[in-house]
Amino acid sequence: MDRGILIVFEGLDGCGKSTQLGLLHEALLAQGIACVRTKEPTEGPWGQRIRAMARSDQRVAPEEELDWFMQDRRAHVAELIEPALARGAVVLCDRYWLSSVAYQGGRGLDAQAIQRANEEAFPDPDLAMIFEIPPEEGLQRVNARGGVAEPAFEEQEFLSRVARVFAQIDRPWLVRIDARPALEQVSAQVRARVRQLGIELDDQA
Ligand code: TYD
Repeated sequence: MDRGILIVFEGLDGCGKSTQLGLLHEALLAQGIACVRTKEPTEGPWGQRIRAMARSDQRVAPEEELDWFMQDRRAHVAELIEPALARGAVVLCDRYWLSSVAYQGGRGLDAQAIQRANEEAFPDPDLAMIFEIPPEEGLQRVNARGGVAEPAFEEQEFLSRVARVFAQIDRPWLVRIDARPALEQVSAQVRARVRQLGIELDDQA
């Protein structure tokens, strides 16, 4: 059986990547394509620890934060992503190691070293889409939707640094999508990129 396809959704908080992932997931399922959606941080023990930290006023050192994300990803890849790819599924992943490069790089760690460590340990995506939005616009969207605040990751100055690191990542499987237009326009861009992978996708909304 052919190996599956790993599609990653990345960008600043509030960029709309999770909404776009949901739309693509529904479209693929509607066409009978085997497809799983997943996210990082995960719901596993490391992901829960990360979320608890992000929502509290307790900070950990950037090195330790990176280590938690790496542990979370190690389990995620071994237990979910690799098995799904091995059975030929399309895997839609909401954040992956590009977030470690950008966010923990934004915390002051060496972004290139983070990228190297991740590329050694984890499979490359077949396609990664970075949804680009100015940090202040993303934060407005995050605040407008309410929910649980994660002050550890949601400060404008920090997100500006994160955006700068995202802007520097350069890989053949990486594309950037302007996340500011209406949802339908953005999802048309997503579908166009997904078709380039050879996935046949009808032209519905
Ligand atoms: P997010 O996608 O906002 O998840 P949720 O909506 O469930 O809270 O991710 C939480 C935060 O984690 C986000 O601000 C980015 C950050 N993050 C990192 O700093 N490094 C990483 O490697 C990953 C995967 C996420």
